[in-house]
Formats: sequence, C-alpha cells, structure tokens
Amino acid sequence: MRIAINTGGGDAPGLNAVIRAAVLSAHGRGWDVVGIRRGYEGLFRSHGIVPLDERSVKGITHIGGTILGTTNRGNPFAFRVARPDGGVEVVDRSGEVVQRVKDLGIDCMIAVGGDGSLRIASELAEKGLKVIGVPKTIDNDLAATAVTFGFHTAVQTATDAIGKLHSTAEAHQRVMVVELMGRHAGWIALFAGFASTADVILIPEIPYDLGRVAEKIEDRWARGSEFAIVVVAEGAVPEGGGASYLDRPSLGGGRRLGGAAKRIARRLEELTGHETRSLVLGHLQRGGQPIAFDRILSLRFGAAAVKLAAEGHFGCMVALDPPHMKPVPLAEAVSRLKTVPPEHELIRSGRAMGISFGD
Ligand code: F6P
Repeated sequence: MRIAINTGGGDAPGLNAVIRAAVLSAHGRGWDVVGIRRGYEGLFRSHGIVPLDERSVKGITHIGGTILGTTNRGNPFAFRVARPDGGVEVVDRSGEVVQRVKDLGIDCMIAVGGDGSLRIASELAEKGLKVIGVPKTIDNDLAATAVTFGFHTAVQTATDAIGKLHSTAEAHQRVMVVELMGRHAGWIALFAGFASTADVILIPEIPYDLGRVAEKIEDRWARGSEFAIVVVAEGAVPEGGGASYLDRPSLGGGRRLGGAAKRIARRLEELTGHETRSLVLGHLQRGGQPIAFDRILSLRFGAAAVKLAAEGHFGCMVALDPPHMKPVPLAEAVSRLKTVPPEHELIRSGRAMGISFGD
C-alpha cells in the first residue's frame, strides 16, 4: 500500500501532528508514504512529491504550520493559470490529478483540509480517487465532527490576546473592539469572548444592533467600570445589513471578510462619546504551537485516517464522535456548515452573566 498526504486551505495548528501520526501509523503497517507539497499543486511541479519516513516527521507534533506547505489557491477543478497578457484563465485540472495519482502508484490520499479542501476531496472521490479526509479548520465550522483540530488553539491565542487588552482598556477608560476570525461561524468569538470575560460578543448567528451595544457600554460606565471589551467575529452582521468585506479580493478570487471591528468602533464612539479603538487579531490565530488538546486530537485524527484507509472507508472523512473516531461520507461532511445555535448553552450562560450579544 502506498499512501499520499496533502494539506490544503488555510493552515491550522495541529497539521504537523496529523502528518506525524499518519506517517507513523502507516509505516507501522508496512506502508509507503509520500507527501504532496502545497495542496494539489505538488502533483504538477517538479520536487512536489516528497517521501515521508519516520525521520521526516521526527519532533514535529508541537510545530505550527505544515511541513508540506499549503495553499488556498490550488483547487484543481478551478485552477488559475496566468496568461501571457497578464490575465488569469481558470482551467479544470481534476482529471490530471486523478491520472497523476494513479501514475505515482498512490493507492490512497489523505487530504487534510477544511470545508473548501474537503469539498475538492469529495469531488475527486466522485472521480474515482481513493481519498480519506481529515477535518482541519480553526473556524470549527464542519458539522460532521464534534470539533475540528486547530480551533481550541485559536481560541487560546485569542483569549490570551483579549486578556492583555483589559489592562490597557481600563488604564485609558476606552472601549476596545477586537475582530476575530471564523468566517461565517461565530465559534472562535463566542469561546474566546466567553473565556476572556468580554462585555459584548457579536457573532454572525445573532445580528447586532449597535444601539443595544452602546446601552451595555453606558451601563458599565454608570456602574463604575469605565472600560469595555467588545469581541466581534469577522463575519458578524448588523440587523438588516451584511458582513464587512475588504476591498481587495484574495488572489484566489474570493471575497475576504474584514473591517467589522473598525466599522463598529467608529459608530460606537459616535454613540457613546467614549474613546474607542479597534484591532484585528488576524492570522495570529492560525500560527504557533498547537495546545495539548489539539496535539492529541490531531494525532488521533492522523492515526484514525490510516485505520479508515486500512478498512477501505474511501470517500470518507474521519470525524470525532466522542469518545470515538468514525467515518462520515465526505459528501455528507461538506454538505452542512456548523454555525453557532443561538440557543447554545454558552450564549444562555453568557446572557445570564450580563454579556451582551448585541440583540
Ligand atoms: O478558514 C480559516 C480562516 O482563517 C478564516 O477564519 C479566515 O476568514 C480565512 O481563513 C482567512 O484566509 P486567508 O489566509 O486567505 O487570509
């Protein structure tokens, strides 16, 4: 048996742990393993395929990023090729991917990715590729698994950062508005906001009214706490309005969320008269070492992916269904995003403790 591993889409802490566990488990079965560099791109490049032996995965469990590299521009179904006239042509290279994998003698591909990369994996499976998916994303927005790896590390990073905002906010009697990642799901903002005792948490699932947020801030001032921390998910939406996007699309052509905190801070300053600052935590949430929880989860996912391959569960994603790992068909896994239910227990507890969700 010869398997390949690739990592696609935005990186998440724990990718290297998945690779290590998959390589060691596969070698334990006497299998050969190769890595494909930068998603599927490596299949089209010289030096794009690297052998993965025990030595190449030594000491990488705790390291952020991915030793294989990644890209969110490598969709083989919509591959962007630069034209000589400076334009971009979009071509379907999925057939070449299937053929190249076959030519390389690869029996199974372990695709470690989020919603976008796993959708690609699912479509490749439909074209006959034997593929096993592993759910990766700091956004935690895949419905088929209890949790994705990388999420809890991002929450920890955001919690630490927001903790540091408290002292400067209090020293200056300011409102600090911090924007967190998560795309159209509010998991990171909800968990980090809750853990860091934010006063206001704005998530895409609960459209906000800044008049209500201003009331909450005024109430804090009235009670003698002359500072406030507002956590906003990048995909948060005002009542009757839309999410904030950056002007410049990504090189992959997609729209990029961003600007919510700035927009909210400006308006809150007008409404309350209190000095307000905004910041975007950005890619710090994706970097650095995975915390122990994510190391363990990632190692389990990597080992379980190899087990699924051995049992012939091709076209499936490994999912955590505590305490077990189980196969879920890829098509089903990517069919539904997991957003925060507005009646989530953290929201109910938060409301009981006086946290405003902007509604
Ligand atoms: O999906 C992971 C994620 O970090 C999102 O939270 C964020 O919106 C997006 O990726 C950012 O992507 P990029 O790395 O292309 O800026």
